[in-house]
Amino acid sequence: MIEMKDVWKVYSIDTVEVVALRSVNVRIQQGEYISIIGPSGSGKSTLMNIIGCLDRPSRGTYLFNDRNVSEYSDAELAHIRNRRIGFVFQMFNLLPRYDAVKNVSMPLLYAGVDGAKMEALSKDALLNVGLGNRLHHKPSQLSGGQQQRIAIARAIVNNPDIILADEPTGNLDSESGREIISIFKDLNKRMNVTVVLVTHDPSVARQADRTIRILDGALVQDA
Ligand SMILES: Nc1ncnc2c1ncn2[C@@H]1O[C@H](COP(=O)(O)OP(=O)(O)O)[C@@H](O)[C@H]1O
Ligand SMILES: [Mg+2]
Repeated sequence: MIEMKDVWKVYSIDTVEVVALRSVNVRIQQGEYISIIGPSGSGKSTLMNIIGCLDRPSRGTYLFNDRNVSEYSDAELAHIRNRRIGFVFQMFNLLPRYDAVKNVSMPLLYAGVDGAKMEALSKDALLNVGLGNRLHHKPSQLSGGQQQRIAIARAIVNNPDIILADEPTGNLDSESGREIISIFKDLNKRMNVTVVLVTHDPSVARQADRTIRILDGALVQDA
């Protein structure tokens, strides 16, 4: 489903160049559950951003579902993100003025899904993450773990091929973190959605089928 060949990412600020990824080669198959670990600043988020078509490699090839997306325009990348990829972030990134259903429906709004269907799919996604009893709560009325579950519902509402979660438990207490991880596991098993999860927590990483370790922009372990 995903294939990176000799992918580099170099950021240039003024005259300074930061090599964030150096010659990364990786293949990911549909249905895998993968964790990415590595020290702060090692390039984990940069790698996630490229996998998620939020950014392009400076060099190398990136194939998503056999298409060479490293050559796609911004609009084409946005289309793939909206239809194929679900994102979950450390800070939840919910809209504070909207309730759970409305937050979850955002990707469908961009995809042009009509109102009734949008509401039904959003409620269904919230049921899938165990939030059927909080449909009309706003983020501020919910715990951190519940807010992250809304974010997961938003990530799955478009029925994506892959969920990318960048330190999704980083802002949660350990109990809520465990709940979030069990939701990812459950979605991976039930829906065969691919999950790639960045974490600092070794106990979270261990639950994945495969762990990729990244150090100073290079993939140093894949087991
Ligand atoms: N937009 C950017 N512009 C310049 N440098 C960046 C940018 N994003 C990340 N970097 C640099 O790239 C390296 C990798 O960053 P990042 O992928 O965020 O690491 P991690 O997620 O593992 O903490 C770091 O040295 C960081 O400072
Ligand atoms: Mg990061």
